[in-house]
Amino acid sequence: MNSFQPIGSKDLLRLSDLAQHEILDILATAADFKRNPERVAGAMSGKSVCMLFEKPSLRTRMSFEVGVFRMGGQAIYLEHREAPLGTRETISDYGKNIERWCHAIVARVHSHSTVVDLAAATRIPVINTLCDMHHPCQALADLQTLIERGFDLNHSRLAWVGDGNNVCHSLIEAASILGFGITVVTPKGFEPDSTVVSQCVARSMRTGARIEVTNDIGAIQGAFAVYTDTWTSMGQTESNAKKSAFEAYRVDRKVMAIAGPTSLFMHCLPAHRGEEVTDEVIDSANSVVFDQAENRMHAQNALLCHLLSPKSSLSKSDDFNTAHARHPTPALQ
Ligand code: CP
Ligand code: NVA
Repeated sequence: MNSFQPIGSKDLLRLSDLAQHEILDILATAADFKRNPERVAGAMSGKSVCMLFEKPSLRTRMSFEVGVFRMGGQAIYLEHREAPLGTRETISDYGKNIERWCHAIVARVHSHSTVVDLAAATRIPVINTLCDMHHPCQALADLQTLIERGFDLNHSRLAWVGDGNNVCHSLIEAASILGFGITVVTPKGFEPDSTVVSQCVARSMRTGARIEVTNDIGAIQGAFAVYTDTWTSMGQTESNAKKSAFEAYRVDRKVMAIAGPTSLFMHCLPAHRGEEVTDEVIDSANSVVFDQAENRMHAQNALLCHLLSPKSSLSKSDDFNTAHARHPTPALQ
């Protein structure tokens, strides 16, 4: 059995919750699991993961359920599309129940504040699997995919084309932590969140990352890979005005030609063929979209193993009482 370097049984609400060496450790384990699938057996024996979803999913649900099963653990899917968290009971009460049975919570929610509240209320790791602001598990799988294809964390550059929201934010954070280059190209008005960008730019002073945000599609020239995402994220209302703004940012053969003949095409999926990407690009030999999907499982298995390593305390706090003191139960008057 592998001995995983514990990362302190913390939460993963956004990629920047992880240090550079923690991300690199997780990626090394993920690559090892992919090469040697037998090594995951038993890694989560006797452990249960609660998976709560306020939004639909194919890849996240499947990759966690299959991944935890292969590690000998149990994943329990909780559907919250009809009644978002906090409506039947408080988020805090919900979390304090779950932690009595489960070893980790995987949460796909509308608002980032929901995972923040859940993490604050519980002593087990909370893993954000997509909110309005971040998608850190996607970024881990994308990093694994890029590295497999020869992406050089010191010299290569990733290009983002499309909406500057959740997946884009996690990739900018990845660049800023690991020190690689990222060019984010969006239509006017759809740039990434300015606070996320400024935090990443500040971090890049230490790591050497080159972060560029522009509306000019020509800026993708020479990028190692071109990454796009849906124009209408889950929970958003389709708008013709938004679609028109994105027309010039569809990733088609001409856009890929600007990047260069060896540039890879990436997409977190689900794809809306004919909108953000054409069939000929997503189905081309340069497309790695299904590798990204497969790597969700390897990267997440690695993440769970590091978070739940026997050497790391199950509690996010070393001291049960300290944990409770942070969220004291008021005494009855
Ligand atoms: N990329 C991704 O998170 O896919 P799902 O929405 O299908 O989970
Ligand atoms: N931006 C997309 C990502 C889906 C994985 C969304 O939020 O729907």
